[in-house]
Amino acid sequence: MTGLRKLFVKSFGCQMNVYDSRRMADTLAPEGYAETATPEDADLIILNTCHIREKAADKVYSELGRMRRLKEAAAEDGRDVLVAVAGCVAQAEGDEIIRRAPTVDLVVGSQNYHRLPELIVRAGRDGPLVDTEFPVDDKFDHLAAPSATAIRARGVTAFVTVQEGCDKFCSFCVVPYTRGAETSRPVVKVVAEVERLAAAGVREITLIGQNVNAYHGTGPDGRPWSLARLLERLAAMRGVERLRYTTSHPLDMADDLIAAHRDLPALMPQLHLPVQSGSDRILAAMNRRHSCADYRDVVARLRKARPDLALTSDFIVGFPGETDADFAETLGLIGDVAYAGAFSFKYSPRPGTPGAEIAEQVNEAVKSDRLQQLQQAIDRSQTAFNRGCVGRTLSVLFERPGRHRGQIVGRSPYLQPVQIDAPASLIGTIADVTVTEMASNSLFGALAQDASQQTSRVPAHAGAGA
Ligand code: SAH
Ligand code: SF4
Ligand code: F3S
Repeated sequence: MTGLRKLFVKSFGCQMNVYDSRRMADTLAPEGYAETATPEDADLIILNTCHIREKAADKVYSELGRMRRLKEAAAEDGRDVLVAVAGCVAQAEGDEIIRRAPTVDLVVGSQNYHRLPELIVRAGRDGPLVDTEFPVDDKFDHLAAPSATAIRARGVTAFVTVQEGCDKFCSFCVVPYTRGAETSRPVVKVVAEVERLAAAGVREITLIGQNVNAYHGTGPDGRPWSLARLLERLAAMRGVERLRYTTSHPLDMADDLIAAHRDLPALMPQLHLPVQSGSDRILAAMNRRHSCADYRDVVARLRKARPDLALTSDFIVGFPGETDADFAETLGLIGDVAYAGAFSFKYSPRPGTPGAEIAEQVNEAVKSDRLQQLQQAIDRSQTAFNRGCVGRTLSVLFERPGRHRGQIVGRSPYLQPVQIDAPASLIGTIADVTVTEMASNSLFGALAQDASQQTSRVPAHAGAGA
């Protein structure tokens, strides 16, 4: 090991990439790499990329232009910088990346991060290298765990990947190709990781996976455990106060998971359940394998189990063949479900996916117009949901200092950011906050005990404006 070197990792795309980036940093720490927040002083730069839409992939190339300039400037000072591209663009484009951006020294696919220490040495010594095989061994078995200091530096909430890959093959989506087949991590591994996090002070765990509710990891009894069973096990652990999971597919919303929303107080009343479209014709063309009525039924059963559940979704507008009537059905669904928020995207044809081959692509102007209408509908829904929280007392896990002095920010059970004036010593604790005001994306309030001294305490309602 030579002296301390600096590592800059930048994540694009989903939370799986954020998680992987951290595990890469953990794995490189014993190799003498300390993380830096600025690429200018880094010896190793890793861009952990996303291929989900064309714009996401384009971002990588503009970022690589910047890295080339940094690398040239460092070379003038006699310093070598290694640039690596990881993640889904690496997996999808492989050596094409080095052809387009010769500044890149290493391309490492999404399943090969455990080989990083060796790949970095080889790329530094022998020149550009590409590793995008899907290996038989599980990368998570070989990636280092974070130190207690690293966990504390990352805050009181943490992601844990429990499931990876996807077998659903929605016709618009690259994930089954960039992340490979669906796999679940064994229960004991997940439990050990959560124990470590909780012992270092993490209070909220979000289990993540491209299709997290398809989780079926091997349990200590040798049988596959469902996500509900895993959540129940984790909810019983000391220090784990809050649990969430994301992202889920409507088809895998099993009865025991719905019941967990009723039975596990640690499981937060919030769920991201993407539907993509409200039209059966488009859902079929997307190969989602459920109808709009199936989705409404899942929502109804969830709300029966947990009436105040905050639901969010993803929507795609302008999938090939989408008519005004199809789009109107999507707007209708948004009106009925009373979402707490949603992400919406214009359909982006991705190379190698069936959707990109369909002749009837929707033109750009129509996509833009639909996106705008959709976003207005979502904003209305989100505002109504947030308004329903004003006057209520919600438990908030405080995560970090706010933008202004004397302010701290946390999350409500529904995942809304909540800002209050309170001492920073409350960060890492959970306290009741009486919500007094709302903005489009966040809530404002005061500690319930303070608020009760000023006014009479507002009674909590069961529903959240839904
Ligand atoms: N596994 C998750 C989401 C994966 S990608 C699920 O099944 O829902 C996150 C979101 O990106 C998707 O929900 C979808 O709305 C959007 N997306 C995926 N591919 C896209 C494409 N080709 N064009 C536009 N949006 C896309
Ligand atoms: Fe993509 Fe569909 Fe799999 Fe989600 S379920 S990752 S949208 S293929
Ligand atoms: Fe993007 Fe890959 Fe995640 S394509 S959304 S980084 S799984």
